[in-house]
Amino acid sequence: MRSNIVHPGADKLRYEIREIVAVAKRVSVAGIPITWENIGDPVAKGEVPPAWIKKIIQDTTKEDLIFAYSPTKGLEETREYIARERNLEGGIQITAEDILFFNGLGDAISHLYRNLNPRARIIGPDPAYPTHSSSEAAHSDKPHITYRLDPENGWRPDLADMEQKIRANKDIAGIIIINPDNPTGFVYPQETIKSIVALAKKYKLFIISDEIYSNLAFEGSGMRKLASVIGSVPGIAMRGISKEFPWPGARCGWVEFYNRDKDKNFDAYAHSIVASKTLEVCSTTLPQRVLPKVMSDPRYYPYLAERTRRYEKKAVYAHEVLSKLPGLIVHKPQGAFYMTGVFKKGLLKKTQSLPVKVELKKFIDPYLAKASLDKRFVYYLLASTGICVVPLSSGFNSSVQGFRFLLLERDMEKFKKTIDTIAKAISDFAVS
Ligand SMILES: Cc1ncc(COP(=O)(O)O)c(C=O)c1O
Repeated sequence: MRSNIVHPGADKLRYEIREIVAVAKRVSVAGIPITWENIGDPVAKGEVPPAWIKKIIQDTTKEDLIFAYSPTKGLEETREYIARERNLEGGIQITAEDILFFNGLGDAISHLYRNLNPRARIIGPDPAYPTHSSSEAAHSDKPHITYRLDPENGWRPDLADMEQKIRANKDIAGIIIINPDNPTGFVYPQETIKSIVALAKKYKLFIISDEIYSNLAFEGSGMRKLASVIGSVPGIAMRGISKEFPWPGARCGWVEFYNRDKDKNFDAYAHSIVASKTLEVCSTTLPQRVLPKVMSDPRYYPYLAERTRRYEKKAVYAHEVLSKLPGLIVHKPQGAFYMTGVFKKGLLKKTQSLPVKVELKKFIDPYLAKASLDKRFVYYLLASTGICVVPLSSGFNSSVQGFRFLLLERDMEKFKKTIDTIAKAISDFAVS
């Protein structure tokens, strides 16, 4: 090319959750069946969307207008429904005008960072959901700035670390939380969200709260949305149907803007996000049309409760087994369908391995030459047992070494076998 056509932030775009799939496919060719524990797609993992939801979708496809574009912000009646439901929960009150639909939250995340001034930085959790951390890093062409979620303290955010970094870096303009969190399953207590809102107020920042799992918080988790405590601080909540319905293939999510009227600069930023969505015309129409019909159905919340009870049961089993390993830190998640194990310092070494077929060893070795220690474990686990989990360091932009797995497996016996195999692999790897 006569001039460089590669964006300066291009090398910051990483999504190990899917990158590992190519390696797993090679392992599968060698005759080892793969247990997919990497991608948080409930449907791919065997969750059958309820017949009544499918019926609503089928009936909706009979309407000619679902084949049409929708308004840029999203269907009026759907945004009105969401605003009404939001307002019934108390906290900040919004209108349909404060809501903007996207083709999934992946699309929303991309718009949020793309439209941010390149100098403005958003501080996010470590470990981080990679779409946020990679998009933020690419937008600024600098490593993502993080605050610690503390594995030694039940994954609570280290607020002192957060404040110290905000004070030290004047470019930080916003804080992101993921609640319930991916990858840890941590649910932010309301008091903690209040403290984060207070920090935002003190340093004149805005808050992004990714609440895609908010309706999948476990019973008794104390889950409260940002809207309940945001007060007068500018903020953006992100929601979607990928995990809830579950319908990730619909590509449907939305953002709720809070307190646009309280800060001119935040209002201009929100306006630019709407303007950039306008250039794309609109988001997918069918799922927006279906959304209020499904969410207002009396079967909806009991259905979600049944699912979260199932996830919690898996979490209890995994916690019981993995917490017995002396080298691993685990906490029982309070929401979503992920769980994370952290290796204690000193447990992992460059010399460790698991028994692997010769041809697979030759295949994975080049990947491991410069790999982090948790990635070495994850690749050996994959090549040796076929279990495909995601390393924390490279998969979730984390300074701690560990791995994330799913609580989505429908078959409890299969799930138990997977967890038992992971536990044995960790023990064998540690003494190899
Ligand atoms: C925290 C979080 N935010 C956003 C997304 C993206 O969801 P969507 O399917 O709406 O793009 C995911 C998907 O895994 C997620 O875990």
